[in-house]
Amino acid sequence: MELTSNPQAVEIAGEKLVVFRDAGGLWHALLDKCPHRGAALSLGAVTEDGNLQCRYHGWRFRGDGVCARVPLNELTDKALGSIRAAAMPVMELAGALWVFTGTLQDEPAPPPPELPSSLQGPPRQFGTYSQHWNAHWTRAVENFIDFAHPSYLHRDTIGAWTHDYAEGGAIATCEVHAESWGFSTLNYFTTARQGFRVDWYRPNLSVLHFGDSGEGKLHVFSIPVSAARTRVMTVRRLPPGADTAAWSARAASMDNTILDEDRVVVESQDGPVDEAGEISVATDAPAVAFRRWHRQMLASRP
Ligand code: FES
Ligand SMILES: [Fe+2]
Repeated sequence: MELTSNPQAVEIAGEKLVVFRDAGGLWHALLDKCPHRGAALSLGAVTEDGNLQCRYHGWRFRGDGVCARVPLNELTDKALGSIRAAAMPVMELAGALWVFTGTLQDEPAPPPPELPSSLQGPPRQFGTYSQHWNAHWTRAVENFIDFAHPSYLHRDTIGAWTHDYAEGGAIATCEVHAESWGFSTLNYFTTARQGFRVDWYRPNLSVLHFGDSGEGKLHVFSIPVSAARTRVMTVRRLPPGADTAAWSARAASMDNTILDEDRVVVESQDGPVDEAGEISVATDAPAVAFRRWHRQMLASRP
């Protein structure tokens, strides 16, 4: 989602949040619910001193959620400090805002995610494109690490060169290599020896290596909005000096075509990935590795 207003309402992982930028340009995320009477804080405004002011009775909140002012009342600093809107850790990276919503369930914030070097750099160097899918985020991740579907699902577009291999009886090999940040996969047709690398970064980033340079990589985030909705966001590093608008428009139109092909089938899958009820074969090795991580991650939660 584009951050076009300040403050702005966003929904992530089933939580309604408000994000806002303070006077110093730093972004913050709070639960979009005023602790006074539950009004949506996103209806409010950012004051000149960088606090978020509730539209209803004008209470002001700092980026860390602590109340800075309750109009019409005399409160001690201690009393003010005890009034809090729930705040979540945020960070800005590759032109995108990252929010960890687990703190709302009293989970300690994890260290920031380990990300590829191709996502480092000033925000203006990146072009992004987003689609909303009516699907569980795990289905989307699995789609973006899967080598066996482009020959069929994308046979009229990016998979055209592989369709005849697949129909002609080629065998594909999908190697999975554990990495500190997740796993890398190397996929190739035994008959063609043309390999294609796809990386998975915990928890929801797939990196498709269409080339070795930073610009040759397509980063795809599968961001949970709710249990039944996922925002699929592609991020590309733009070539130096690129006309950002023109480049983004071209990338968006291409991504739109390919992602629409994926979206239709992924939306037809029910619920999250289903280890027990579905059959996996050798070319599902990346998906099986992802499913294992997902199962262990769920099992480790309180
Ligand atoms: S509901 Fe927010 S100040 Fe009253
Ligand atoms: Fe696809």
